[in-house]
Amino acid sequence: MTTPQPPVPVFRPGLFDGQLALVTGGGTGIGFGVAQLLAELGATVVLASRNQAHLDPAVEQLRSVGRKAASLVLDVRDADGVKAAVRSVADTHGRIDVLVNNAAGNFYVPSESMSANAWRSVLEIDLSGTFFCSQAVMPVMRDRGGGRIVNISMTLHYRGWPLMAHATAAKAGIDALTRTLALEWARHGIRVNAVAPGPIPTEGVKKAFAALPGQPHDVFSAERAMDDYARRAIPLARMGSPRDIANMVAFLASPAGDWITGAIMVVDGGEWLQKSPN
Ligand code: COA
Repeated sequence: MTTPQPPVPVFRPGLFDGQLALVTGGGTGIGFGVAQLLAELGATVVLASRNQAHLDPAVEQLRSVGRKAASLVLDVRDADGVKAAVRSVADTHGRIDVLVNNAAGNFYVPSESMSANAWRSVLEIDLSGTFFCSQAVMPVMRDRGGGRIVNISMTLHYRGWPLMAHATAAKAGIDALTRTLALEWARHGIRVNAVAPGPIPTEGVKKAFAALPGQPHDVFSAERAMDDYARRAIPLARMGSPRDIANMVAFLASPAGDWITGAIMVVDGGEWLQKSPN
């Protein structure tokens, strides 16, 4: 596939030394890419996921290159569980400087046949999970004089995206939540921003794409189809990578983000601006 350039160092080594970053959905995909970069820059990263099997190899990979990483089994839909887990992270590490609300789930399904549970499941993971985690870290950040919350949104709801009613509604909600929390919590020094990624072909995305009716059913052909899509539909002519998103998260979490709150930063190679050529 048309792959992104290999990552080049952009940020100062040690930029996040001494800081604690909590990344939900941090074991795989974009979340892991974000955790990797923050850890590379000195942060202790706590990777949260429902699935211990996603966390173990991720934490191991980070530790094997000398990063400081820990895992946290957590269902972001469980408000009480989130509160307790965040309290335990704060008690153990004494701080939470950065929260990245990345945990998300989705699948393609026609709206007319989407079950109530399917709708609820995605809304609760994406939107409620973002709210519960933000609400839980707020007092920890407030008591330390501030912090950075970065929500992972998307661009698909700017136009609408068939078969994704649940996810587009949830991400539109995340954008609204980002702006509202930014206003409410600015006085506590808590910056709340979002990053809206364009297509990032993580393993999960490739599988979902390959499962679409009318699409190639193996991952290799799916990659070729995505490559073709990137050339036609993305002005910068490539798919994105977790590092593309991680760089923006790191920027927002760094002192460069000091005067930025309530912003939704689109990182998509120009995709959404360009009318789909389909
Ligand atoms: N099409 C239609 N409905 C689907 C579906 C699909 N592909 N996948 C799940 N659902 C429905 C289930 O049938 C269930 O509804 P029901 O009880 O009425 O049958 C509901 O969604 C919840 O499914 P379940 O598997 O129990 O969900 P969960 O709450 O444990 O997990 C997801 C939800 C979204 C995480 C899970 O479906 C998933 O793993 N999705 C793919 C991976 C993914 O999203 N990766 C992230 C990419 S950004």
